[in-house]
Amino acid sequence: MSKTAVVFRSKYGASKAYSLILGKRIPAVVIENEGLTPHLVEEFDTIILVGGVYAGKITGIDFLKKYADDFSSKRIAVFAVGASPVSDDTIDSIKKRNLKGKLETVPLFYGRGALDEEQLSFMDKNLLSVVRRSAEKTKPEKRSDLEKIILETAGSADWMDESYLEPLIEFISQA
Ligand SMILES: Cc1cc2nc3c(=O)[nH]c(=O)nc-3n(C[C@H](O)[C@H](O)[C@H](O)COP(=O)(O)O)c2cc1C
Repeated sequence: MSKTAVVFRSKYGASKAYSLILGKRIPAVVIENEGLTPHLVEEFDTIILVGGVYAGKITGIDFLKKYADDFSSKRIAVFAVGASPVSDDTIDSIKKRNLKGKLETVPLFYGRGALDEEQLSFMDKNLLSVVRRSAEKTKPEKRSDLEKIILETAGSADWMDESYLEPLIEFISQA
């Protein structure tokens, strides 16, 4: 029987919450990405990376990049969690930014997370205000989806929905 590991990296809990659901639904072993080595996931034949999107980059993607050769015989998938609405543009831009070179053929799935400004670290609060200020200066018709969301979201928002996981679960079940 195929053994699956869900490896996650989550700054504020959204990717962790999706990973725990995935662990139950697939079922899979759920592992925090921090300090992970290929040796620790040797026994698994499928690895799913789940990570939040920050300024376009999926947290934890470096782990897959670094060990792409070690994982060449495994089935790999990525589930990215972000604030941007689901659209082909969102998924294409996350793909272009994160799945290059050896990771080009890795399937990418996407679901919306949550944003609670009170929880954010000093750095993340600053980064978010930079994006917000730049969005304010951009003409409304030229704003990106993410800029629109950030202007609409004052304080906190929760867009999480278990149904975002269905395409990934379907993909995994077609082993
Ligand atoms: C500083 C900052 C930058 C972000 N950049 C993006 C982004 O580029 N694209 C996006 O879709 N979401 C972005 N987000 C939203 C996060 O991806 C979202 O909050 C997600 O739920 C975080 O997952 P985590 O809690 O597992 O880390 C950003 C959030 C913060 C705080």
